[in-house]
Amino acid sequence: MAARREHFGSRLGFILAAAGSAVGLGNIWKFPYTTGANGGAAFLVLYLALTFSIGLSIMLAEFAVGRAAERNPVGAFAKLKGGAWPVVGYLGVAAGFIILSFYGVVAGWTIAYIVKTITGELSSSDPEHLGNIFGGFISNPLEPVVYQAIFMALTVGVVLGGVHGGIERWCKVLMPLLFILLLVLIVRSLTLPGAAAGLSFYLEPDLSEITAETFNAALAQAFFSLSLGMGAMITYASYLSHKENLPGSAIWVTSLDATVAILAGLLIMPAVFAFGYDPGAGPGLTFITLPAVFAHMPLGEMFAVLFFLLLTVAALTSSVSLLQVVVAYFVDERGVERHRAAIIFGVIIFAIGVPSSLSLGVWSEFTIGGKAFLDLMDYVSSNLMLPIGGFFISIFVGWVVYPKILAEATNQGEKPFPLAPLWAFICRFVAPVAIAWILISGL
Ligand code: TRP
Repeated sequence: MAARREHFGSRLGFILAAAGSAVGLGNIWKFPYTTGANGGAAFLVLYLALTFSIGLSIMLAEFAVGRAAERNPVGAFAKLKGGAWPVVGYLGVAAGFIILSFYGVVAGWTIAYIVKTITGELSSSDPEHLGNIFGGFISNPLEPVVYQAIFMALTVGVVLGGVHGGIERWCKVLMPLLFILLLVLIVRSLTLPGAAAGLSFYLEPDLSEITAETFNAALAQAFFSLSLGMGAMITYASYLSHKENLPGSAIWVTSLDATVAILAGLLIMPAVFAFGYDPGAGPGLTFITLPAVFAHMPLGEMFAVLFFLLLTVAALTSSVSLLQVVVAYFVDERGVERHRAAIIFGVIIFAIGVPSSLSLGVWSEFTIGGKAFLDLMDYVSSNLMLPIGGFFISIFVGWVVYPKILAEATNQGEKPFPLAPLWAFICRFVAPVAIAWILISGL
């Protein structure tokens, strides 16, 4: 007999852990620069539409699959159906390796920015100067790798602490704090002279700017930000007690994640325009704009340290969910001891991430399809693997195991779920067709 599976301590604990997985660098680092590079408000509209239709439905699908099976993604597909379906789980575990490898690099930058704020290196309000500092830092062969190593060690440490003690406890206090800090910073950003132009770029959609590429970017952003398509939510829900309300939890997590992304845009976009910076500047956008905002605030350094600290924690609660997928697979399916698995795969994923870091500096000559290694890892996982995973998860739930999964989503009929027909319709038709169409037209 297997030992009884560890469980989250409370419903709030699960929602916060799942929201902790969702809210991270995807919201505060990736969302603003992707929005900036894809036309602003038009992208925001698409992103929100995809988040609350396909994203929300797949979130619930992953929750129900995970709790019904009480297994990692590979084991879950094997237990619920078998056949070739576990391949979807393997794809997810592979995506976990890839995403965490570059996620650790960017999270390392966040830790570095705590240190650089304290040493005074970032005290400037000139985006050009801040851009040079950022560029110099990420292209350094050693410094970012050291911070990446520190972040990966923290990730392993939290996973070693286990689901209940490690993950749940962190999320409860620090997530609300990040939220409040965002609100404070938005007030500063919105009152900068020239902020209005950023606001209109962000909130007044010009739908003629939408292209197939915008769709692809919005779909990738929705999946990445909600931690969907690779079984992270399947894994978390596998530790969830059978009493909790799944549709309600899915709505909470999706809304919290989208809210933080919207707020991050409200923070970054006005500042970008106020300082005359380029919204399409790419992955440095948040790291280059924010220090300029802090420079225009009383107690700016204190706010900066607090912000990058909380962003590190937000990244940590996300990276933990990525490593947890890999660890749960090797523990459940391969009999590896949990502590061993966390340490071994933490080290391996760190090593896979080193080329991503170097690809921004000493290895920048080496590109594949015009993309640096980090961009390639991001593109392959976020734009291809996650939507493909989501495609199969929605088909699995909509067509293959629907009655069982519906029973799970309603706690065997105990909890009313009036929107079930809509959910089924999205899983059966809308999600597979839309994802396939977006993937094909994107290629
Ligand atoms: N959603 C997280 C973020 O926005 C990143 C993340 C954590 C993730 N787990 C995931 C992305 C699983 C895709 C799949 O930062």
